[in-house]
Amino acid sequence: MNLTVKVNMLFLGLFVLVNTSLSIDISKNGANVEMSSDYCEKGKVKQFGGLDCYISGPSYSKTAIILITDVFGFAPSHSREIADKVAAAGYYTVLPDFFRGDPYVRGKPFAPWIKKHAPEKGIKDAIPIIKALKARGITKIGVAGFCWGGKVAADLSKHPYVEATVLLHPTSTTTEDIRGDKVPISILGGELDDLCKPELVKEFENILKSKPEVDSFVKIFPGVAHGWTLRYNNTEFAIKKAEESHSDMLHWFDMHLRH
Ligand SMILES: *[C@@H]1O[C@H](CO)[C@@H](O)[C@H](O)[C@H]1NC(C)=O
Repeated sequence: MNLTVKVNMLFLGLFVLVNTSLSIDISKNGANVEMSSDYCEKGKVKQFGGLDCYISGPSYSKTAIILITDVFGFAPSHSREIADKVAAAGYYTVLPDFFRGDPYVRGKPFAPWIKKHAPEKGIKDAIPIIKALKARGITKIGVAGFCWGGKVAADLSKHPYVEATVLLHPTSTTTEDIRGDKVPISILGGELDDLCKPELVKEFENILKSKPEVDSFVKIFPGVAHGWTLRYNNTEFAIKKAEESHSDMLHWFDMHLRH
């Protein structure tokens, strides 16, 4: 065996190793590939409303958006990139660390983690953030919740805490939550999402149709699996779908917070 063959075999071994651990992670979490990006952040992490928050956008803005992440928290992936995108549209944008430095880590047991960080408890942490925004002179607030954060956003929307809501592939969110919704709400689901199934999103849509007093928009994106708006890979298809969801989200906020 010559050296080139040996080196090639070594690389093949590494390749198999990397791919195997990747596919285990994906199957465990039902999420897309997690990106480690070299994205250059435009905002800063600060204490705000009792939590560490990534904050981006014009400080003079009278409108704010709170982005509530999935179980992986506010540090990795595209969450800060999305916050900067929302900020670039003119919103004071806050991405809180609801998990206080203890996000879910792939491969660790999920049950004890979620017990400690139940989305039902999220609203308790969100309210001081809303108060802190109001204290800054913010007059209108929108909330977008991704996966875990979808439930928190849905809970907030049953009260007059926010003026507009977007749920992106929300988990733990029930038909009862949607029945209780009081603010304009947009729900973005994925055709292949097994944690927020399209059938459930359809049910949400039917409930909202029976509530014409609340403005709503529901869309199921073809060909995408759970997490696609936040944890997308760098294929053209995945980027295109994620960006489309971000545009829909911004459009909803522009419609309901800008007049
Ligand atoms: C990238 O994401 C797309 C859309 O979610 C998915 O269909 C595709 O399998 C993913 N590709 C890789 C290499 O993970």
